[in-house]
Amino acid sequence: MSDFIWKKSGQGDGPGEAVMQFLAGEDVVLDRQLIGFDIRASQAHVNGLAQVGILDEDEARQLVDGLDGIAAALQAGDLVLDETFEDCHSALEAWLTERLGPLLGGKVHTGRSRNDQVAVALRLYMKDRLDALSALCVDTASVLLARARDEGHLPMPGYTHLQRAMPSSAGLWLAGHAEAFIDNAQLAALTRDWLDASPLGTASGFGVNLPLARDAVAEALGFGRLVVNPQYAQNARGKVELQALGALGAATADLRRLAWDLSLFTTSEFDFVRLPDGWCTGSSIMPNKRNPDVVELLRAAHGTVAGARTELESVLGLPSGYQRDLQATKPPLLRAFEAGLQALALLPELLAAFEWNPDAMQAAISPEMFATDLSVDMAREGMPFRDAYREVGSRLGQVKAEDAVQSLENRVSPGACGALELDRLAARLDHLAKK
Ligand code: ARG
Repeated sequence: MSDFIWKKSGQGDGPGEAVMQFLAGEDVVLDRQLIGFDIRASQAHVNGLAQVGILDEDEARQLVDGLDGIAAALQAGDLVLDETFEDCHSALEAWLTERLGPLLGGKVHTGRSRNDQVAVALRLYMKDRLDALSALCVDTASVLLARARDEGHLPMPGYTHLQRAMPSSAGLWLAGHAEAFIDNAQLAALTRDWLDASPLGTASGFGVNLPLARDAVAEALGFGRLVVNPQYAQNARGKVELQALGALGAATADLRRLAWDLSLFTTSEFDFVRLPDGWCTGSSIMPNKRNPDVVELLRAAHGTVAGARTELESVLGLPSGYQRDLQATKPPLLRAFEAGLQALALLPELLAAFEWNPDAMQAAISPEMFATDLSVDMAREGMPFRDAYREVGSRLGQVKAEDAVQSLENRVSPGACGALELDRLAARLDHLAKK
């Protein structure tokens, strides 16, 4: 164990091994995902200190270079963040001190606390992950839209209550999921902008007696604004994480529904979809099986995200200011983003790869499914719709099957099978892709 960053002379040894394991065990491992952001923020902090004359230019340059050296050593595996440190923040100071000596290494923490250090690293992490989320949602929607253009005309049965309802099309199904992921991309981008504020320079939650260049430091880190109030910089911890998981959860919930559809459509009973071999597994005992395990685990990914939100929310019943409980908001956040993005990353390729079975889709459109179109046709001729509904309903067995393709073309209400309005969706998608 390295010396605690907070160890003072005349003090005893501090926590023993079991207590240390409890305080920092998983945390220090999770910090491996944050340390890169901590390094960037530490460099900006050091430059900010030079700007207001707390460090001279040469000191700042050596500290920034030292931090670059640590980043490279971590990358090469020459330095490892492990439980010999309390957290990544202590490790950085220890490594800098080792490399640059205590006179210089000991200056990096001037005017900051681990409290604003972790908060800024987490905001940078969330911005990065939300950008990745938005990009994956854009990719997913692009594949769905492209297929909607190419195969949109294919008739398939539409269901409500999982009962046959009206003739529908592959295009309506594809574009419906595309629009969901366009919304999800936008939600990720909006959430990113909402949390795009720098808490760095608020120290332990009370500010410091130095004229810190907070705005310049925030700008150097690419933040759009400051978290102005130091108390709120701490009180916002967990609240911000919850919204980030909200954006992630919107996408994984739609992924769950899409995966549900695919798992249903691949059954022999439906037989609308075939998944290529690369997306299927077998059974250890039943030689006949071909299982859509990937799709099922994609569906399950939302469980991890939803569970993480509940866990995080449960930690947040806290008074104002920093409490160590806030450390417990980190595991659910990191775990959920890891699982959620890993699942979403598979989606564009899967959606490009599955194959429709147009014959089975067409065969599942039974004549009575044209009853609604017929009733609306009669209403268009002037009959009150309720009368038309009753008349068609009284002779359902005689409703003739129409040409499904023609019926879909006639469904011209904007957004419907005959007027999918893919251009409107593409325009939103383009706008988001350019952001
Ligand atoms: N691992 C800690 C956290 O996530 C870092 C901040 C520690 N601050 C402190 N005052 N003990 O909250």
